[in-house]
Amino acid sequence: MRMTVFGTGYLGATHAACMAELGHEVLGVDVDEAKIDRLRRGEVPFYEPGLPEILKRQVEAGRVRFTTDYAEAAEFADLHFIGVGTPQRKGEFAADTSHVQEVVARLAPLLTADAVMVGKSTVPVGTAARLQEIADERVRAGVRAEVVWNPEFLREGFAVADTLTPDRIVIGVREPGGPVEEVVRGAYVPILESDPCPVIVTDLATAELVKVSANAFLATKISFINAVSEVCEAAGADVTVLADAIGMDPRIGRRFLGAGLGFGGGCLPKDIRAFMARAGELGADQAMSFLREVDSINMRRRERMVDLATEACGGMLIGKTVAVLGAAFKPDSDDVRDSPALNVAGMLSLKGAQAVVYDPQALDNARALFPTLTYAGSALEACEGADVVLVATEWPEFLGLDPAAVARVARGRIMLDGRNCMPAEAWRAAGWTYRALGRGVAVS
Ligand code: UGA
Repeated sequence: MRMTVFGTGYLGATHAACMAELGHEVLGVDVDEAKIDRLRRGEVPFYEPGLPEILKRQVEAGRVRFTTDYAEAAEFADLHFIGVGTPQRKGEFAADTSHVQEVVARLAPLLTADAVMVGKSTVPVGTAARLQEIADERVRAGVRAEVVWNPEFLREGFAVADTLTPDRIVIGVREPGGPVEEVVRGAYVPILESDPCPVIVTDLATAELVKVSANAFLATKISFINAVSEVCEAAGADVTVLADAIGMDPRIGRRFLGAGLGFGGGCLPKDIRAFMARAGELGADQAMSFLREVDSINMRRRERMVDLATEACGGMLIGKTVAVLGAAFKPDSDDVRDSPALNVAGMLSLKGAQAVVYDPQALDNARALFPTLTYAGSALEACEGADVVLVATEWPEFLGLDPAAVARVARGRIMLDGRNCMPAEAWRAAGWTYRALGRGVAVS
Protein backbone atom coordinates (compact mmCIF):
# COMPACT_ATOMS: atom_id res chain seq x y z
CA MET A 1 0.00 0.00 0.00
CA ARG A 2 1.02 3.64 -0.37
CA MET A 3 0.79 5.77 2.73
CA THR A 4 2.14 8.93 4.31
CA VAL A 5 3.16 9.52 7.91
CA PHE A 6 2.93 13.09 9.24
CA GLY A 7 5.42 13.83 12.01
CA THR A 8 8.85 12.23 12.12
CA GLY A 9 9.60 12.19 15.85
CA TYR A 10 9.97 9.00 17.92
CA LEU A 11 6.52 7.84 16.88
CA GLY A 12 6.30 8.98 13.25
CA ALA A 13 9.82 8.09 12.13
CA THR A 14 9.49 4.62 13.65
CA HIS A 15 6.06 4.10 12.10
CA ALA A 16 7.26 5.28 8.66
CA ALA A 17 10.36 3.05 8.64
CA CYS A 18 8.49 0.02 10.02
CA MET A 19 5.61 0.37 7.54
CA ALA A 20 8.22 0.32 4.76
CA GLU A 21 9.81 -2.72 6.39
CA LEU A 22 6.40 -4.42 6.12
CA GLY A 23 6.50 -3.82 2.37
CA HIS A 24 4.51 -0.59 2.02
CA GLU A 25 5.57 2.50 0.08
CA VAL A 26 5.85 5.31 2.58
CA LEU A 27 6.32 9.07 2.47
CA GLY A 28 7.29 10.68 5.79
CA VAL A 29 6.29 14.34 6.19
CA ASP A 30 7.52 16.97 8.64
CA VAL A 31 7.78 20.75 8.81
CA ASP A 32 11.34 20.51 10.16
CA GLU A 33 13.69 20.72 7.13
CA ALA A 34 16.78 19.72 9.10
CA LYS A 35 15.11 16.57 10.42
CA ILE A 36 13.85 15.64 6.95
CA ASP A 37 17.36 16.12 5.49
CA ARG A 38 18.82 13.70 8.03
CA LEU A 39 16.08 11.14 7.46
CA ARG A 40 16.61 11.37 3.69
CA ARG A 41 20.22 10.41 4.28
CA GLY A 42 18.98 7.41 6.26
CA GLU A 43 19.96 8.92 9.63
CA VAL A 44 17.65 8.57 12.65
CA PRO A 45 17.69 11.95 14.51
CA PHE A 46 17.38 10.26 17.94
CA TYR A 47 18.61 7.11 19.66
CA GLU A 48 16.38 4.08 19.14
CA PRO A 49 17.96 0.61 19.04
CA GLY A 50 17.34 -1.26 15.77
CA LEU A 51 15.74 1.68 13.96
CA PRO A 52 18.85 3.00 12.11
CA GLU A 53 19.35 -0.35 10.34
CA ILE A 54 15.71 -0.50 9.19
CA LEU A 55 15.63 3.13 8.09
CA LYS A 56 18.87 2.86 6.12
CA ARG A 57 17.72 -0.33 4.41
CA GLN A 58 14.32 1.12 3.48
CA VAL A 59 15.71 4.50 2.33
CA GLU A 60 18.21 2.67 0.11
CA ALA A 61 15.44 0.42 -1.23
CA GLY A 62 13.40 3.56 -2.00
CA ARG A 63 10.41 2.26 -0.01
CA VAL A 64 10.49 5.19 2.40
CA ARG A 65 11.08 8.79 1.34
CA PHE A 66 10.76 12.06 3.22
CA THR A 67 9.40 15.49 2.35
CA THR A 68 8.21 18.78 3.80
CA ASP A 69 5.77 19.26 0.93
CA TYR A 70 2.12 18.69 1.89
CA ALA A 71 0.97 18.82 -1.74
CA GLU A 72 3.34 15.99 -2.59
CA ALA A 73 1.95 14.02 0.35
CA ALA A 74 -1.67 14.60 -0.69
CA GLU A 75 -0.80 13.43 -4.18
CA PHE A 76 1.21 10.39 -3.01
CA ALA A 77 -1.43 8.41 -1.09
CA ASP A 78 -5.02 8.16 0.12
CA LEU A 79 -4.00 6.81 3.53
CA HIS A 80 -2.37 9.34 5.86
CA PHE A 81 -1.09 8.53 9.34
CA ILE A 82 -0.68 11.38 11.82
CA GLY A 83 2.00 11.02 14.49
CA VAL A 84 2.83 14.59 15.46
CA GLY A 85 3.37 15.70 19.07
CA THR A 86 0.69 16.69 21.58
CA PRO A 87 2.81 18.34 24.29
CA GLN A 88 1.53 19.82 27.55
CA ARG A 89 0.33 23.38 27.04
CA LYS A 90 2.55 25.96 28.70
CA GLY A 91 1.25 26.78 32.18
CA GLU A 92 -1.65 24.33 31.91
CA PHE A 93 -2.34 20.63 32.37
CA ALA A 94 -4.17 20.27 29.06
CA ALA A 95 -2.59 18.87 25.90
CA ASP A 96 -1.76 21.15 22.99
CA THR A 97 -3.49 19.60 19.97
CA SER A 98 -2.56 22.41 17.57
CA HIS A 99 -0.08 20.26 15.63
CA VAL A 100 -2.63 17.51 14.83
CA GLN A 101 -5.17 20.17 13.93
CA GLU A 102 -2.69 21.87 11.64
CA VAL A 103 -1.92 18.64 9.78
CA VAL A 104 -5.61 18.05 9.06
CA ALA A 105 -6.32 21.70 8.24
CA ARG A 106 -3.42 21.87 5.77
CA LEU A 107 -3.85 18.43 4.22
CA ALA A 108 -7.65 18.34 3.75
CA PRO A 109 -7.89 21.08 1.08
CA LEU A 110 -5.08 19.46 -0.93
CA LEU A 111 -6.84 16.10 -1.28
CA THR A 112 -8.11 15.35 -4.77
CA ALA A 113 -9.68 11.97 -3.94
CA ASP A 114 -11.37 10.35 -0.93
CA ALA A 115 -8.84 9.71 1.80
CA VAL A 116 -8.44 8.27 5.28
CA MET A 117 -6.55 10.19 7.98
CA VAL A 118 -5.42 7.91 10.77
CA GLY A 119 -4.46 9.60 14.02
CA LYS A 120 -1.81 7.81 16.08
CA SER A 121 -0.87 10.64 18.46
CA THR A 122 -2.10 10.58 22.07
CA VAL A 123 -4.96 13.08 22.22
CA PRO A 124 -7.70 14.20 24.61
CA VAL A 125 -10.97 12.37 23.97
CA GLY A 126 -13.06 14.33 21.48
CA THR A 127 -10.10 15.43 19.36
CA ALA A 128 -10.85 13.01 16.51
CA ALA A 129 -14.44 14.27 16.25
CA ARG A 130 -13.13 17.85 16.11
CA LEU A 131 -10.60 16.88 13.44
CA GLN A 132 -13.42 15.33 11.40
CA GLU A 133 -15.22 18.69 11.51
CA ILE A 134 -12.07 20.48 10.38
CA ALA A 135 -11.61 17.98 7.55
CA ASP A 136 -15.27 18.31 6.48
CA GLU A 137 -14.98 22.11 6.45
CA ARG A 138 -11.80 22.13 4.41
CA VAL A 139 -12.08 19.39 1.77
CA ARG A 140 -12.94 20.26 -1.82
CA ALA A 141 -16.48 19.57 -3.02
CA GLY A 142 -16.99 15.89 -3.80
CA VAL A 143 -14.02 14.70 -1.74
CA ARG A 144 -14.48 12.78 1.55
CA ALA A 145 -11.80 12.63 4.21
CA GLU A 146 -12.51 10.20 7.04
CA VAL A 147 -10.76 10.56 10.39
CA VAL A 148 -9.88 7.33 12.20
CA TRP A 149 -8.10 6.87 15.55
CA ASN A 150 -5.49 4.14 15.83
CA PRO A 151 -3.48 4.81 19.01
CA GLU A 152 0.12 3.76 19.27
CA PHE A 153 1.46 1.92 22.32
CA LEU A 154 5.17 1.81 21.46
CA ARG A 155 7.75 2.32 24.16
CA GLU A 156 10.97 4.20 23.49
CA GLY A 157 13.83 1.73 23.46
CA PHE A 158 11.52 -1.02 22.14
CA ALA A 159 9.86 1.04 19.43
CA VAL A 160 10.70 -1.26 16.52
CA ALA A 161 9.54 -4.47 18.21
CA ASP A 162 6.41 -2.75 19.56
CA THR A 163 5.54 -1.52 16.06
CA LEU A 164 6.28 -4.73 14.16
CA THR A 165 4.84 -7.10 16.77
CA PRO A 166 2.23 -5.11 18.72
CA ASP A 167 0.26 -6.81 21.48
CA ARG A 168 -2.98 -5.28 20.15
CA ILE A 169 -4.20 -2.97 17.41
CA VAL A 170 -7.00 -0.55 18.30
CA ILE A 171 -9.00 1.06 15.52
CA GLY A 172 -11.56 3.74 16.35
CA VAL A 173 -13.82 4.44 13.40
CA ARG A 174 -17.22 6.04 12.76
CA GLU A 175 -18.56 2.99 10.89
CA PRO A 176 -17.12 -0.25 12.24
CA GLY A 177 -17.02 -2.99 9.61
CA GLY A 178 -17.11 -0.51 6.76
CA PRO A 179 -14.63 0.21 3.96
CA VAL A 180 -12.63 2.71 6.03
CA GLU A 181 -11.84 0.07 8.63
CA GLU A 182 -10.74 -2.23 5.80
CA VAL A 183 -8.27 0.38 4.52
CA VAL A 184 -6.67 0.78 7.96
CA ARG A 185 -6.55 -2.97 8.53
CA GLY A 186 -4.83 -3.26 5.15
CA ALA A 187 -1.80 -1.44 6.50
CA TYR A 188 -1.43 -4.08 9.21
CA VAL A 189 -2.10 -7.16 7.07
CA PRO A 190 1.61 -8.16 6.97
CA ILE A 191 1.67 -8.11 10.80
CA LEU A 192 -1.64 -9.92 11.17
CA GLU A 193 -0.54 -12.64 8.74
CA SER A 194 2.88 -13.30 10.25
CA ASP A 195 2.31 -12.77 13.98
CA PRO A 196 -1.39 -12.15 14.65
CA CYS A 197 -2.54 -9.99 17.55
CA PRO A 198 -6.04 -8.96 18.62
CA VAL A 199 -7.63 -6.12 16.64
CA ILE A 200 -10.14 -4.11 18.63
CA VAL A 201 -12.50 -2.05 16.51
CA THR A 202 -14.47 0.60 18.33
CA ASP A 203 -15.72 4.18 18.15
CA LEU A 204 -13.43 7.21 18.01
CA ALA A 205 -13.87 8.29 21.64
CA THR A 206 -13.16 4.82 23.04
CA ALA A 207 -10.03 4.47 20.91
CA GLU A 208 -8.73 7.84 22.12
CA LEU A 209 -9.50 6.92 25.74
CA VAL A 210 -7.85 3.48 25.49
CA LYS A 211 -4.49 5.15 25.00
CA VAL A 212 -4.69 7.72 27.80
CA SER A 213 -6.16 5.11 30.16
CA ALA A 214 -3.30 2.71 29.43
CA ASN A 215 -0.70 5.38 30.22
CA ALA A 216 -2.63 6.54 33.30
CA PHE A 217 -2.76 2.95 34.57
CA LEU A 218 0.98 2.46 34.05
CA ALA A 219 1.73 5.74 35.84
CA THR A 220 -0.58 4.74 38.70
CA LYS A 221 1.13 1.36 39.02
CA ILE A 222 4.55 3.03 39.31
CA SER A 223 3.30 5.58 41.81
CA PHE A 224 1.57 2.87 43.81
CA ILE A 225 4.82 1.03 44.37
CA ASN A 226 6.63 4.30 45.04
CA ALA A 227 4.05 5.23 47.69
CA VAL A 228 4.54 1.82 49.29
CA SER A 229 8.26 2.48 48.99
CA GLU A 230 7.88 5.56 51.23
CA VAL A 231 6.29 3.35 53.88
CA CYS A 232 9.04 0.75 53.42
CA GLU A 233 11.65 3.43 54.09
CA ALA A 234 9.85 4.51 57.24
CA ALA A 235 9.35 0.92 58.44
CA GLY A 236 12.77 -0.40 57.49
CA ALA A 237 11.33 -2.78 54.90
CA ASP A 238 12.56 -3.62 51.39
CA VAL A 239 10.28 -2.53 48.55
CA THR A 240 12.06 -4.68 45.96
CA VAL A 241 11.31 -7.90 47.85
CA LEU A 242 7.77 -6.68 48.45
CA ALA A 243 7.31 -5.95 44.72
CA ASP A 244 8.63 -9.42 43.83
CA ALA A 245 6.19 -10.98 46.26
CA ILE A 246 3.06 -9.07 45.25
CA GLY A 247 4.07 -9.27 41.58
CA MET A 248 3.81 -13.06 41.70
CA ASP A 249 0.05 -12.68 41.91
CA PRO A 250 -0.93 -12.79 38.23
CA ARG A 251 -3.69 -10.29 38.94
CA ILE A 252 -1.00 -7.77 39.93
CA GLY A 253 2.08 -8.72 37.85
CA ARG A 254 5.67 -7.59 38.52
CA ARG A 255 6.09 -5.30 35.52
CA PHE A 256 5.96 -1.55 36.24
CA LEU A 257 6.45 -2.21 39.94
CA GLY A 258 10.02 -0.93 39.66
CA ALA A 259 10.30 1.43 42.65
CA GLY A 260 12.76 4.28 42.46
CA LEU A 261 12.94 7.72 40.90
CA GLY A 262 9.62 7.25 39.15
CA PHE A 263 8.34 8.05 35.71
CA GLY A 264 9.39 10.77 33.31
CA GLY A 265 9.62 11.19 29.55
CA GLY A 266 7.45 12.78 26.92
CA CYS A 267 4.36 10.65 27.60
CA LEU A 268 3.34 9.46 31.07
CA PRO A 269 3.68 12.79 32.96
CA LYS A 270 1.92 14.94 30.37
CA ASP A 271 -0.68 12.28 29.57
CA ILE A 272 -1.95 11.97 33.15
CA ARG A 273 -2.19 15.75 33.38
CA ALA A 274 -4.03 16.01 30.08
CA PHE A 275 -6.39 13.22 31.18
CA MET A 276 -7.26 15.14 34.36
CA ALA A 277 -7.77 18.35 32.38
CA ARG A 278 -10.02 16.68 29.81
CA ALA A 279 -12.06 14.83 32.44
CA GLY A 280 -12.60 18.21 34.12
CA GLU A 281 -13.78 19.79 30.85
CA LEU A 282 -16.26 16.94 30.47
CA GLY A 283 -17.57 17.44 34.00
CA ALA A 284 -15.98 14.25 35.33
CA ASP A 285 -13.16 15.99 37.20
CA GLN A 286 -13.60 13.98 40.42
CA ALA A 287 -13.09 10.73 38.51
CA MET A 288 -9.49 11.50 37.67
CA SER A 289 -8.49 13.60 40.68
CA PHE A 290 -6.48 10.66 42.09
CA LEU A 291 -4.04 11.24 39.22
CA ARG A 292 -2.99 14.44 40.97
CA GLU A 293 -1.76 12.22 43.80
CA VAL A 294 -0.09 9.87 41.33
CA ASP A 295 1.75 12.91 39.97
CA SER A 296 2.80 14.21 43.37
CA ILE A 297 4.01 10.80 44.64
CA ASN A 298 6.11 10.68 41.48
CA MET A 299 7.61 14.14 41.95
CA ARG A 300 8.27 13.47 45.67
CA ARG A 301 10.67 10.63 44.75
CA ARG A 302 12.98 13.12 43.07
CA GLU A 303 13.07 15.27 46.21
CA ARG A 304 13.64 12.21 48.39
CA MET A 305 16.63 11.31 46.24
CA VAL A 306 18.09 14.77 46.79
CA ASP A 307 17.45 14.39 50.56
CA LEU A 308 19.27 11.04 50.55
CA ALA A 309 22.21 12.61 48.74
CA THR A 310 22.24 15.49 51.22
CA GLU A 311 22.25 13.05 54.16
CA ALA A 312 25.03 11.07 52.48
CA CYS A 313 27.06 14.28 52.23
CA GLY A 314 26.69 14.92 55.95
CA GLY A 315 23.71 17.29 55.78
CA MET A 316 25.13 19.89 53.40
CA LEU A 317 25.65 19.75 49.63
CA ILE A 318 27.74 22.91 49.29
CA GLY A 319 31.26 22.01 48.20
CA LYS A 320 30.38 18.35 47.60
CA THR A 321 30.64 16.48 44.33
CA VAL A 322 27.91 14.06 43.28
CA ALA A 323 28.37 11.78 40.28
CA VAL A 324 24.98 11.40 38.62
CA LEU A 325 24.97 8.31 36.42
CA GLY A 326 22.19 8.71 33.88
CA ALA A 327 20.44 11.65 32.25
CA ALA A 328 17.88 9.91 30.01
CA PHE A 329 14.39 9.32 31.45
CA LYS A 330 15.01 5.60 31.03
CA PRO A 331 17.68 3.33 29.55
CA ASP A 332 17.96 2.69 25.80
CA SER A 333 16.80 6.21 25.10
CA ASP A 334 18.44 9.61 24.61
CA ASP A 335 15.22 11.36 25.62
CA VAL A 336 15.61 13.81 28.51
CA ARG A 337 12.09 15.25 28.46
CA ASP A 338 10.94 15.47 32.10
CA SER A 339 13.78 13.16 33.05
CA PRO A 340 13.90 12.33 36.77
CA ALA A 341 17.68 11.86 36.45
CA LEU A 342 18.34 15.34 35.06
CA ASN A 343 15.83 16.85 37.43
CA VAL A 344 17.72 15.40 40.40
CA ALA A 345 21.05 16.58 38.97
CA GLY A 346 19.58 20.08 38.55
CA MET A 347 18.26 20.16 42.14
CA LEU A 348 21.62 18.95 43.53
CA SER A 349 23.36 21.71 41.63
CA LEU A 350 20.86 24.34 42.85
CA LYS A 351 21.59 23.24 46.41
CA GLY A 352 25.29 23.88 45.95
CA ALA A 353 26.70 20.50 44.93
CA GLN A 354 28.75 19.97 41.85
CA ALA A 355 26.65 17.45 39.92
CA VAL A 356 28.76 15.63 37.34
CA VAL A 357 26.50 13.87 34.88
CA TYR A 358 27.25 10.99 32.54
CA ASP A 359 24.89 9.16 30.20
CA PRO A 360 25.77 6.72 27.41
CA GLN A 361 23.41 8.36 24.87
CA ALA A 362 21.69 11.44 26.25
CA LEU A 363 24.61 13.81 26.90
CA ASP A 364 23.93 16.11 23.93
CA ASN A 365 20.24 16.45 24.76
CA ALA A 366 21.06 16.93 28.46
CA ARG A 367 23.62 19.64 27.71
CA ALA A 368 21.13 21.48 25.52
CA LEU A 369 18.51 21.45 28.31
CA PHE A 370 20.78 21.99 31.34
CA PRO A 371 23.93 23.71 30.04
CA THR A 372 25.12 24.70 33.50
CA LEU A 373 25.64 21.16 34.83
CA THR A 374 29.03 19.47 34.51
CA TYR A 375 29.20 16.60 32.05
CA ALA A 376 31.68 13.72 31.89
CA GLY A 377 32.68 11.48 29.00
CA SER A 378 32.43 8.20 30.92
CA ALA A 379 30.98 6.79 34.12
CA LEU A 380 34.42 6.54 35.72
CA GLU A 381 35.26 10.13 34.75
CA ALA A 382 31.99 11.29 36.38
CA CYS A 383 32.97 9.44 39.58
CA GLU A 384 36.41 11.08 39.82
CA GLY A 385 36.58 12.87 43.16
CA ALA A 386 32.88 12.22 43.85
CA ASP A 387 31.72 12.19 47.47
CA VAL A 388 28.61 10.29 46.43
CA VAL A 389 27.79 8.18 43.36
CA LEU A 390 24.10 8.32 42.41
CA VAL A 391 22.58 5.99 39.81
CA ALA A 392 19.59 7.75 38.25
CA THR A 393 18.95 5.73 35.05
CA GLU A 394 19.37 1.96 34.96
CA TRP A 395 21.65 1.65 31.92
CA PRO A 396 23.17 -1.87 31.74
CA GLU A 397 26.60 -0.18 31.59
CA PHE A 398 26.14 1.08 35.17
CA LEU A 399 24.94 -2.28 36.50
CA GLY A 400 28.25 -3.76 35.34
CA LEU A 401 30.48 -1.09 36.93
CA ASP A 402 33.31 -2.52 39.01
CA PRO A 403 32.92 -1.15 42.57
CA ALA A 404 36.68 -1.49 43.16
CA ALA A 405 37.49 0.52 40.04
CA VAL A 406 35.02 3.25 41.06
CA ALA A 407 36.50 3.25 44.57
CA ARG A 408 39.94 4.01 43.12
CA VAL A 409 38.72 7.31 41.56
CA ALA A 410 35.91 8.44 43.91
CA ARG A 411 36.51 10.40 47.15
CA GLY A 412 33.61 8.92 49.11
CA ARG A 413 32.27 5.36 49.30
CA ILE A 414 28.54 5.99 49.11
CA MET A 415 26.41 4.46 46.37
CA LEU A 416 22.85 5.81 46.06
CA ASP A 417 20.74 3.61 43.85
CA GLY A 418 17.84 5.63 42.48
CA ARG A 419 16.53 2.76 40.38
CA ASN A 420 16.99 -0.27 42.66
CA CYS A 421 19.06 -1.79 39.90
CA MET A 422 22.61 -2.09 41.24
CA PRO A 423 24.02 -5.32 42.72
CA ALA A 424 23.94 -4.15 46.33
CA GLU A 425 25.93 -7.08 47.74
CA ALA A 426 28.86 -6.56 45.38
CA TRP A 427 29.09 -2.86 46.28
CA ARG A 428 28.88 -3.52 50.00
CA ALA A 429 31.47 -6.28 49.73
CA ALA A 430 33.82 -3.76 48.09
CA GLY A 431 33.47 -1.44 51.09
CA TRP A 432 30.69 0.85 49.86
CA THR A 433 27.71 2.08 51.83
CA TYR A 434 24.73 1.22 49.63
CA ARG A 435 21.44 3.12 49.98
CA ALA A 436 18.40 2.90 47.76
CA LEU A 437 14.94 4.41 47.57
CA GLY A 438 12.42 2.23 49.37
CA ARG A 439 14.92 0.08 51.18
CA GLY A 440 15.29 1.16 54.78
CA VAL A 441 17.17 -0.46 57.63
CA ALA A 442 17.19 -3.82 55.88
CA VAL A 443 19.97 -2.79 53.49
CA SER A 444 21.77 0.21 54.96
C1 UGA B 1 5.05 4.92 27.58
C2 UGA B 1 4.16 3.67 27.54
O1 UGA B 1 4.80 2.61 28.26
C3 UGA B 1 3.92 3.23 26.09
O2 UGA B 1 3.06 2.12 26.04
C4 UGA B 1 3.30 4.40 25.33
O3 UGA B 1 3.07 4.08 23.97
C5 UGA B 1 4.23 5.60 25.41
O4 UGA B 1 4.45 5.96 26.78
C6 UGA B 1 3.60 6.74 24.68
O5 UGA B 1 2.57 7.23 25.14
O6 UGA B 1 4.05 7.08 23.59
P1 UGA B 1 7.68 5.37 27.36
O7 UGA B 1 7.38 6.80 27.66
O8 UGA B 1 8.60 5.03 26.22
O9 UGA B 1 6.32 4.57 27.04
O10 UGA B 1 8.32 4.77 28.67
P2 UGA B 1 7.96 3.63 29.75
O11 UGA B 1 8.72 2.41 29.43
O12 UGA B 1 6.50 3.52 29.95
O13 UGA B 1 8.62 4.29 31.04
C7 UGA B 1 8.13 5.54 31.55
C8 UGA B 1 8.86 5.97 32.78
O14 UGA B 1 8.48 5.11 33.86
C9 UGA B 1 10.38 5.90 32.72
O15 UGA B 1 10.91 7.08 33.29
C10 UGA B 1 10.73 4.68 33.54
O16 UGA B 1 11.99 4.79 34.15
C11 UGA B 1 9.62 4.70 34.59
N1 UGA B 1 9.35 3.38 35.18
C12 UGA B 1 8.93 2.35 34.42
C13 UGA B 1 9.50 3.22 36.55
O17 UGA B 1 9.86 4.16 37.28
N2 UGA B 1 9.23 1.99 37.10
C14 UGA B 1 8.82 0.94 36.35
O18 UGA B 1 8.60 -0.14 36.92
C15 UGA B 1 8.67 1.11 34.98
